[in-house]
Amino acid sequence: MLELSPQKCTELLYSHPVLLLSSRVGLKANVMPVCWYVPLSSMPALIGVSLTPSSYTCHLVQESGEFVLGVPDETMLKEIHFCGVHCGMDVDKIRHLKLVTHRARDVSALLISDCLGQIECRVRQVQSTGDRKFFISEVMTVTVQPFAWNNGWTDEIRLVHYLGGLDYRIGNEVVRVEGVHPGYVPLER
Ligand SMILES: Cc1cc2nc3c(=O)[nH]c(=O)nc-3n(C[C@H](O)[C@H](O)[C@H](O)COP(=O)(O)O)c2cc1C
Repeated sequence: MLELSPQKCTELLYSHPVLLLSSRVGLKANVMPVCWYVPLSSMPALIGVSLTPSSYTCHLVQESGEFVLGVPDETMLKEIHFCGVHCGMDVDKIRHLKLVTHRARDVSALLISDCLGQIECRVRQVQSTGDRKFFISEVMTVTVQPFAWNNGWTDEIRLVHYLGGLDYRIGNEVVRVEGVHPGYVPLER
């Protein structure tokens, strides 16, 4: 992995792609997609993430004070959607999807290995914002896969953008994700 400065995290996020938020408390590890996030400061590097309080992720992030934001590309579309329509209290999503993980440098949450970029974060402040909890978090470490990065995502990288419901935008194409029901078994990747 290629390491970038925490300030560079915004460059991974300029097009506001869907991210995979990985969280962990001891043996309990989970992953869910997020699109309600926002860079907040560059020095220190801060990112805010808005989470539904009833989600398993919200519990784990609150308890551990840490998480990782992974940047997936189009090859992970079905996994992204599966993680967004299932709760980690009902299914071990990492195991079910056979997601390969490895250890992060600064936080206990796991890195989802297929993500092209990884932003390791520590929670600094939690605020109630309407019906959500907003986690203001410091960026500790930013890494990217060298093949995918050349002062920005390389031309061939296609990140995933959420349009709501079952719809995603990848490049100029709208893709509807269907068939990702509870019994969905991923194809070999
Ligand atoms: C593409 C996508 C983006 C999402 N973004 C967010 C988000 O930013 N914040 C949030 O609280 N939920 C978001 N959700 C919903 C959660 O991912 C969903 O409730 C998930 O099942 C929670 O899983 P958990 O209970 O295992 O944490 C999103 C869902 C999808 C499909």
